[in-house]
Order: sequence, then C-alpha cells, then structure tokens
Amino acid sequence: MLLRSGVLASALLVAGGVFAADDSLYRALGGTEGLTRIASGLVDRAYADERIKLKFDGVNPKFLKEQLRNQFCQLSGGPCVYDGETMKNSHAHLALTKADFNALVEDLQASMDEQGVPFSVQNRLLALLAPMHRDVITK
Ligand code: HEM
Repeated sequence: MLLRSGVLASALLVAGGVFAADDSLYRALGGTEGLTRIASGLVDRAYADERIKLKFDGVNPKFLKEQLRNQFCQLSGGPCVYDGETMKNSHAHLALTKADFNALVEDLQASMDEQGVPFSVQNRLLALLAPMHRDVITK
C-alpha cells in the first residue's frame, strides 16, 4: 500500500509539473502571474465575443479563469495542478464547431498579445492546446 500510494503520489507530482524537466514555456509566459493575466484576458474576451459569448451563459467567469490558469500552468511545465473536468466531459453539452474553436484561439492570441508574449512563445502554448480539438469540437 505504501509503495502504491508512493507511485501514485509521484505520478500526480509529475502530472502537476512539479518535477517537469523543462519549465521554460511556463517562465516565458510570465509564470503564474503572467498566466493569471492571460487566462483572465481570454475569458473577458470570450464573454464579449459575439461569435461565441452565448456558449458561456451561466458559467462563472471567475471559476473559468482559475481553471484555465491552472490548466495552462500545468501544461507549460509550471507548478500547478489542474483538477478540473476532462475536456471531453466539460464541453460535450456545448455542441462546439471548428469556428467556435478558432474564435477562442483568436481571443487567446489577443490576450497573449496584450501581455507582450512573443509570437514564438504563443505558438508553443497553442501547439499544446491544438490536439484538444478532438475532445472539444463535437459538431
Ligand atoms: C483548446 C481549447 C479549449 C480549452 C483548453 C478549454 C479549457 C477549458 C477548461 C479548463 C474548462 C473548465 C473545465 C472544468 O473544470 O469544469 C472549460 C470549460 C468550458 N469551456 Fe472550454 N476550452 C477550450 C475550448 C472551448 C471553446 C471553443 C469554447 C466555446 C466557444 C469553450 C467553452 C467552455 C465553456 C462554456 C465551459 C464551461 C462548461 C460548464 O461548466 O458548463 N471552451 N474549458
């Protein structure tokens, strides 16, 4: 049991990025503070974006900002743990299209532009998010 929980704890720590070999993307995005601003700018833009704002009806923006910050932080090798829903479960009821996905990516790019994130760094984060389209787009 001790061994099993030890293995599980290590797996969680690795998943949380604590032992990530490379946190260069996390640092290039401005660390946790930078990612907090990027996620906040993304959610503010998406909620005001005529193309997709209806999808966010009834969703608490504070909750979404926090979940996205943690997810981007973990993905980029930072010391955060994303403990939210899977991408499949959280988007299944939204009937999202490729156009919706592209609109959200544009809002993310605009948010990163505002924070002065260089294009090459933006593309590294987008490359990590791109494969999620399989779970997010259902229509
Ligand atoms: C790579 C693309 C995307 C990523 C990484 C992403 C990430 C996330 C995350 C982390 C959550 C929180 C899940 C939870 O813990 O409950 C979430 C929820 C949500 N996302 Fe996305 N998302 C993506 C694409 C989209 C798109 C294209 C839209 C709409 C245009 C969208 C709309 C929503 C909404 C409305 C929720 C709240 C669902 C609910 O709680 O009912 N997402 N997303």
